Formats: sequence, C-alpha cells, structure tokens
Amino acid sequence: MQSHEASVDMKRLIEDWVHLHGRTRDQLLPLLHAIQEEVGFIDDAAVPLIAQALNLSRADVHGVVTFYHDFRRMPAGRHVVKLCRAESCQARGGAAIEVAAAQRLGVPMGATRRDGQVTLEPVYCLGLCAVGPNALVDGRPVARIDAAAIERIAQEVAA
Ligand code: FES
Repeated sequence: MQSHEASVDMKRLIEDWVHLHGRTRDQLLPLLHAIQEEVGFIDDAAVPLIAQALNLSRADVHGVVTFYHDFRRMPAGRHVVKLCRAESCQARGGAAIEVAAAQRLGVPMGATRRDGQVTLEPVYCLGLCAVGPNALVDGRPVARIDAAAIERIAQEVAA
C-alpha cells in the first residue's frame, strides 16, 4: 500500500475512531489496524495521540506497536515481500531462502530498499505449511519458494 500520510489528519482520524468505537483500551488494536490501513504505517508521532485518546500510557501504545510484526513504523516500499519465518517453513529451508532473497532483492529483512521499490518483512505462518517455504508478494501467496521463485519475485518487484 502506498502511504498517503500527508493527506491524513491523524488527530481527526483518531477522534473519528473513538467517537464511533469508544475510548476503551480494547480499541487499541482495532485503531492501530485502522491507522495502518489508512496511512500505511504507524508514525511514532501518532503514539501520544493514540495514548491520549484511549486513556493509555505512551509506553502501552508503543509496546503494542513494536510487539506486533504486522505494524509498520515506516512507510512501506512500492512492493512488499513477506517471507514466512514460522516453524514449518523454517524446517523446509526458510532461513537459507531468507538469506538468498535479501541478497537478490538488495534489502535486509525488516527494511525497505533505499530506492523505495521493495520492503522485505517476516510473516509468521500463512496457513500454507505443507507447501512451504512460503511468501506473500504484495498480498499474494507464493508457495515452494526456491531460487527460481526468488528470481521471479525479484523481476516482479522491479516493475
Ligand atoms: S509455517 Fe510457513 S506457512 Fe505455516
């Protein structure tokens, strides 16, 4: 997803959310998902606004944002490649695939390439364990990742 942070009034977005859903701490995860959906990532500057809106401490909000791998703290690249790091995919060579993918895509795991073209992120089980190692490329599952699949993904994300 492309970030359109500049066009989003974060304070308004949060206030609209709590107006609709309430100021309870159980709204934290849904609100964070809504912000990421709308903006593309959770800006550190949003943390105090969220904390205030839900009567939480900044540390509470920061802890949740950093704990869940789904939440991005920086804008994603034009393409997002997620590699599965859960047990079955690891048992099928996931670690070596990760090294090869990072090398071919030119970006370390958990980062966005300098040209903004691709983000490489971990994911923890896609429910496709029998056909791993697996990836998600811009939200599309890709099974049985091997060197040829990495090459296809690299060409796909070059566009
Ligand atoms: S462990 Fe990778 S899809 Fe389940």
